[in-house]
Amino acid sequence: MTGPRELRMTEPLRDILRRAAERLVAVHASEDLDEASLEADLLFGLASGLDRSHVIAAGARPPHADALVAFETLLARRLQHEPLAYILGAREFFGMTFEVGPGCLIPRPETETLVEAALAAITEHPRHRRLVRVADIGTGSGAIALSIAQHAPSTKVYGIDVSGDALKWAARNMRRFALQERVVLLTGDLAEPLSEPIDVLCANLPYVPTDDYEGLPDEIRASEPQIAVEGGPTGIELIARLADQLAAHLAEDCAAAIFELGAGQASWVEELVVKALTAAGRGPLDVRVHRDLRGIRRVVEVRYGYPLPEAREPGA
Ligand SMILES: C[S@@+](CC[C@H](N)C(=O)[O-])C[C@H]1O[C@@H](n2cnc3c(N)ncnc32)[C@H](O)[C@@H]1O
Repeated sequence: MTGPRELRMTEPLRDILRRAAERLVAVHASEDLDEASLEADLLFGLASGLDRSHVIAAGARPPHADALVAFETLLARRLQHEPLAYILGAREFFGMTFEVGPGCLIPRPETETLVEAALAAITEHPRHRRLVRVADIGTGSGAIALSIAQHAPSTKVYGIDVSGDALKWAARNMRRFALQERVVLLTGDLAEPLSEPIDVLCANLPYVPTDDYEGLPDEIRASEPQIAVEGGPTGIELIARLADQLAAHLAEDCAAAIFELGAGQASWVEELVVKALTAAGRGPLDVRVHRDLRGIRRVVEVRYGYPLPEAREPGA
């Protein structure tokens, strides 16, 4: 006779991972077994030092005892609703692997819509051939600031956050991608720390209304910083305050301001930004709304001073 522990030690890895995936589905009240299988593979990969293809290739054999013990510890954390990205210590965003952990928001796929809009605004800016000055307000892990700096070499990028804990992650990622020469991280409230005019200003500030915040999954509320998610009673309090600061920090001749928002907030934000820039005499304004991959009006962009398409330099 063999005890339960010995029995498990002879169980092929693929059966262990399948049972783990089933437990993840049950505990997270999800129906997505494929997603849970991916999570189980990634957790075993972290426990064993194998990449996913090697985890799958090793499926027919029982795993090494040390790897199995380490895997069970990681699985227990995930079953307690700790976000997968925090356990793995990393999240893919815009084709780059960002280090993440407690203290910073895990970058979300919909934020790539904002980065794409920002890169277009940079490429089409008249100063593109020289240097475009960019600001990312509420930089968190640095996902937006560093993706922009990596993909648009003719930029100087400021990443600002009020949270010192978040900025530690941004600084780690800045060093990871060796972008210290063109990225400056600043602590402070919204755009206040900026000391030079900005050509393209981006912001993914917290925008979840207080009442909705209470209804978010435990995984978000218990792990990710509230200051990174909850945006006040209407959700757009911080965005409204930043709209009022725009004219003081955007270049007078030509600039773009680009905001990520929640579903149903685009018209409000558009109105706020247009009102603030019009009151400061900026214009004519070119307002664009970008939809994310789910079709949600996710990003509002307001530009002024850009040349008309036919007046742009060839190849710009
Ligand atoms: C939704 S997270 C975005 C993080 C990152 N930019 C991203 O897209 O993954 C919002 C960030 O704004 C920061 N924040 C909140 N209030 C702020 C304020 N008044 N001034 C500057 N940053 C603020 C939070 O600390 C958090 O890092």
